[in-house]
Amino acid sequence: MGNLHTDGEVIVDAFCGIGYYTLQFLVRGKAEHVHACEINPESIVALKKGLERNSVSDRCTIYPGDNRQTLQQLRGIADRVILGLIPSSMNAWGLAIRCLKDSGGMLHIHMNVHENEIEDWAGKTAEWFATASGKSTTITHIETVKQYCPHIMHVVLDLEIN
Ligand SMILES: C[S@@+](CC[C@H](N)C(=O)[O-])C[C@H]1O[C@@H](n2cnc3c(N)ncnc32)[C@H](O)[C@@H]1O
Repeated sequence: MGNLHTDGEVIVDAFCGIGYYTLQFLVRGKAEHVHACEINPESIVALKKGLERNSVSDRCTIYPGDNRQTLQQLRGIADRVILGLIPSSMNAWGLAIRCLKDSGGMLHIHMNVHENEIEDWAGKTAEWFATASGKSTTITHIETVKQYCPHIMHVVLDLEIN
């Protein structure tokens, strides 16, 4: 994620944890701002420490609590939304679309998927987002991150909405 060109982007990290994506975007990617949602207070303590140690606190806004509430205030602002929760981030999909700018943007959708169903899942997910957003979708990449348990893979779908 640290190799993505995110210069000048506004990014929503919907499940930011301790910030291992948030920090990459701010420190290496030179993102303009990251809006970071996290429900676990202990993760937020660690996230704040990382932001301070990297001198990027001023470019990150933290939203403590359940993102089903906090994402509601982030409408039409993002170039990119990170949906980094497994086994599934589906609960946040609808809100993630509303976070994107009217012109669209990029989603990174994490999911646990059976090893034989990855292509099928990606296609159906792209269709779901096209219907829900009323825009066209393009699959730009599918990353198999790791095996989660026998036959189940942790996958990330990079989906452009435009
Ligand atoms: C797989 S971890 C994300 C890892 C993250 N990228 C990091 O740097 O640690 C998922 C995170 O989402 C948080 N989370 C789960 N459900 C949430 C929700 N409804 N709202 C906000 N955060 C949530 C968890 O507390 C956890 O820290």
